[in-house]
Formats: sequence, structure tokens, C-alpha cells
Amino acid sequence: MHILLVASAFNSLTQRVLAELQDRGHTVGVELAVGNDDALREAVRTHAPRLIVAPMLTTAIPEDIWRAHTCLIVHPGPPGDRGPSSLDRTLREGAESWGVTVLAAVAEMDAGDVWAWSPLKVPPLAGKSDLYRGEVADAAIDAVLLAVERFASGTYKPKRQKAADLAAGWRPFLKQAERRIDWTSASTESVLRQLRAADSQPGVLDELLGTPWYLHGAYPEDELRGTPGELIATRAGAVCRATTDGAVWILQMRPWHASGSGLASFKLPAVDALGDLLPAGLPDVTAPLELPAGRRTWTDMRYSEHGEHGAVGVLNFSFPGGAMSSVQCRRLLEAYRFACTRPTSVLVLGGLRDFFSNGIHLNVIEAAPDPAEESWANIHAMNDLVEAVITTTDRLTVAALGGNAAAGGVMLALAADEVWCRDGAILNPHYRLMGLYGSEYWTYTLPRRVGEREAERLTQSALPVSAKRAVELGMAERVLQAAPEELGDEVMRLATQLAGSPDLAARIAKKQAKRAEDEAAKPLQRYRDEELAHMRRNFFDRSEPHAALRSAFVRKEKAQHTPAHVAQLGLPR
Ligand code: COA
Repeated sequence: MHILLVASAFNSLTQRVLAELQDRGHTVGVELAVGNDDALREAVRTHAPRLIVAPMLTTAIPEDIWRAHTCLIVHPGPPGDRGPSSLDRTLREGAESWGVTVLAAVAEMDAGDVWAWSPLKVPPLAGKSDLYRGEVADAAIDAVLLAVERFASGTYKPKRQKAADLAAGWRPFLKQAERRIDWTSASTESVLRQLRAADSQPGVLDELLGTPWYLHGAYPEDELRGTPGELIATRAGAVCRATTDGAVWILQMRPWHASGSGLASFKLPAVDALGDLLPAGLPDVTAPLELPAGRRTWTDMRYSEHGEHGAVGVLNFSFPGGAMSSVQCRRLLEAYRFACTRPTSVLVLGGLRDFFSNGIHLNVIEAAPDPAEESWANIHAMNDLVEAVITTTDRLTVAALGGNAAAGGVMLALAADEVWCRDGAILNPHYRLMGLYGSEYWTYTLPRRVGEREAERLTQSALPVSAKRAVELGMAERVLQAAPEELGDEVMRLATQLAGSPDLAARIAKKQAKRAEDEAAKPLQRYRDEELAHMRRNFFDRSEPHAALRSAFVRKEKAQHTPAHVAQLGLPR
């Protein structure tokens, strides 16, 4: 069937719906609804779709379009729930289960007939956008696929919503006034709810050290204590703030600016955002890499061993937005080097829900006194990490992707011997949209896996790839059928199996020989030097587009039209 996706952004859910529909043999076009109804009408005329699906839409579809075509809207709430802040309100209220509904577009928001819906479990600690990319996206795919099947049957009658339910189900936009935290009376649980409900957007507007900030991302702390509302510690770029009955870690902050006062502000690790405002003498409380079981605290990386005689090492890591600054890359490399000193035969990297990695940290770079120099430092730090993985020849390495990866983050995964992706993970193995040639040894790892032609196509087309397609192309070895919260256990089970496989020693020996052969044919350093010659120009040459693209990305400037590489999808060449 020819389906047109209409979305406010080519975001993770739109990319996933596109990839999953394509995987099922549909031809799919994409048009961004960016306030130009005539452009949307033109796209509908050009595509003449049998069905329109809106995976993520913040504006209304014009009436003439929904009257002429069946338009299915994905709403992140169960049937009967309505309004623009569904997930925010749900997390704020502490619901444990929720749902996603696919309904027909009509004049009133979320009031159309219900074509399908799918329930979901709300995980205990995930923030809104993590939930959105995980359980919500899974449920949305189930519901969209069912709705498409029902539509294709030609006989299915969608369920009408009752007028009384429609009135009762409406929940208005959640304003900052309702998100406010009163630190003198708020418990840890209520602070966590408010912050989870606002993460990653819009954040909670608050005051800290006499300055207004948006706070983003929060995790509980079980040991540190202090005067409610005050900062009591730092760790890996995050700050710990006391509540009335405990404390929370706040990961990122964004300065509040009066609207219209210059360039938009953007998020940074909390410690970087506070800069000189950070009180002198605030203790930096590091967490041990091997965190004792039962601790309820936040850390961005941890190491553990599993299986018989600890044959499997797991190095979990998780960075907000999947972005990895120079400092984060260096810390992860140190942890990786430690993991390599352990007597394991399989070493797993990642293995947590949500983003695996999205490459260098564009926000930290944008905020640096010299962004080109910081880009240079960041790409070297990333390359050092990737090189360490590629040159590990005494054990098997596995990159386990619980969620999406892009650019250098995909290439970090490809450095491992095996790549395992959770079903639903979306990979964007390209750099072009950020005006970069790319590094992370991609010119070595990607063609080796998919061939020169496909590597060229993937990097130039700049389109998303589903987990299933990644396996077909040779970019990944396994698709893991696991809910986001079950991913860690599934990875452990499979890694333990791998460590126990009878041909493990032979595989490690073969890998050693192959690495030596590759090194003799062309040293890794040459791949790095060649890539970095391009990247140096991308970062330092003022006529290059990268700096402007980075600024627009971190400040979330909206697309003015559907990008050309997306607009041509689903159309005859
Ligand atoms: N640096 C800093 N922040 C990044 C980032 C990066 N490399 N990649 C993603 N993020 C942030 C986004 O700004 C966003 O922040 P928010 O939570 O405040 O909205 C968050 O991570 C999620 O990204 P978003 O773009 O909303 O997710 P998505 O799933 O719709 O799209 C990508 C994912 C990867 C396609 C998109 O984020 C992207 O193009 N990232 C840049 C990749 C890149 O070029 N890296 C540098 C070269 S190695």
C-alpha cells in the first residue's frame, strides 16, 4: 500500500514508523507539517496515498485533506484520553500503565473514531522522552500496524467515541505553573515525578543559585542528604540537590532567557551550565564503576560480571541524548580499559534502554570557548575509544543497543565483533546532515560489514535503518526481542550463551588473525588520519556548513520544509 506519513518532525517515532512500514513491503512517503498547508496539499496530490498516517503531529491536518483521505493520528494515550500533554500528565500522576491509540483525524483534537490501540507498562524511572522512544514507540508500532491492516481489509468499522467520554477525557496543556517544585516541602518522589514528566522537554522552570533555569532529567539518591533545595554534591557533570526526605541527581540544565532576547539557550550537563556559579567546596562524589547491588543512585557507567566464573563483562553506559563529550569519552575509555584487564571472554558494551550513542556532544561543543577546538578534542576522544574496541583481540566484544544510535554512535557499535539491536532500535549511520565527513574509523568498519557500495549508499542517503534491516545489510548480528526494561536480562542471557559456546576460542583466534591481516594491509592510523583530514576542514574552515548546522540543531530550530532526502521517499525515481 502507498502510505504518506505526515509529521511535525522527522523524529525517532516518525523514522521508526517509516522503517517498520517499509520492512512490511509498503511504499512510504514523508511530508513534514511545518505550518504550510498548501505544501501539505501538494504532497498529498503528488503522493496520492491510499492512507495518511501521522505518527507525531503538533498541528491539525486541514479539513479538506482528512475529508478526502483516511488520516490516522497516533495519540500517546489510551482510548478516551485526549489533549496535548498526555505523557507529561501521566508521569506526573505516577500511572503504572498507559496506552497508545490510533484514531481518525477530525476537526476536534483526539476525538475521531478509534482504529486500534495498544497498552503499555510505564517503567519506574524513565523520563518522558525515554518512555516515548521505548514503550510508547513499541505500542505505537503495534497499534499503527493493526490499524493499517484493518484499513487494508476494507471491512473494518472503527469505534466511535461517545460524546460524554470525549468531554471527560480532555486534559489541557500542562503549563510551567503546574510543573513548579516547592523544594521546601517536596519529597523525593514528587520531585522525580515532576522532572520525569518534563524530560527531556520542556524541563521544569526553577530557580537555583539566584538564577532561573530549566531542569532536565532526575534520578534518586539514597545516601547524600542536605538542606532541602540546596546543592550537596556533583558527579560526572550532574548535580545532587537535597529534598525534604532525600536527594535527587539533576543531569542537565538550560538557562531561562526572556523570550526574544537573542539566541535560544540550550541544555548542558548541569555542572557546565552552572559554571562559576557552582559553590566552591561542593564535593565531587564519584560512584564506583562496580556499584554495589541495592544502591539507589545515579551513575552514567557501571561494570559487572556474569555467567560461569564471570566469563561475561558488561560495561553499561547511558548519556543524556546519547551525546558523548570529550570528558565522557575519556571516562568511558578508562572504564573500558579496566574491563579489559578482567579475565572475561565476552565483553558487552551498552545493554541499557534508550540511546546507545549519538556521537560527539554537539551542545558541549557549541558552548565551548572555541567550538572547533572542542570538536577536534571530542572526535579524538571518541576515536580513542573506538580504536580501543577495534583493537581488543583477546576476547569477543558485543555492542548491545537498547535504543537508537546515530553517526559516530553507530560507528562505535560497529567497532565491536557483534552488534545486537533491540527490535525497534533505529540506526542512522551517516554524518552528512550535520555537514561532517565522519570519523570513528567508519571507513574501516562500515564497508567491511556491508561492502563499499552499500556503505556509500547508507552514508549518502542519510536515511534511518531498522534493526531488522541492519541485520539484513550485515551491520548487525542479532535483533533482540525484548521490552526496553527486559533488555539487560536478555543481553546477559545471550552473552553468557556466547561465552559458553564451544567455538569461542577459535573465534577469538580468527579475529586476532583478521585484525593483524587488516593492519598489515592498511594500518588503522591511516584510516584515522584520512578521516580526520576531512573532519579538520569541516570543523575549522569557516566556509563549511557544520557550525551553522550544529547551532541550528542544539537550538532546535524548526525545519522550514521537508528536507529533500526525505521528500523523495516513496516517489518513483
Ligand atoms: N549532541 C548533543 N545532543 C544530541 C546529540 C548530539 N550528538 N544527538 C542527539 N542529541 C539530543 C537532541 O538534541 C535531543 O535533545 P532533547 O532531548 O533536548 O530534545 C535528544 O538528544 C534526542 O534527540 P532527538 O533529535 O530528539 O532524537 P531523535 O531520535 O528524533 O533523532 C538523531 C535522533 C540521532 C537522528 C538526531 O538527534 C541527530 O541527528 N543527532 C546528531 C547526530 C550527530 O550528527 N552526531 C554528531 C556527529 S558524530
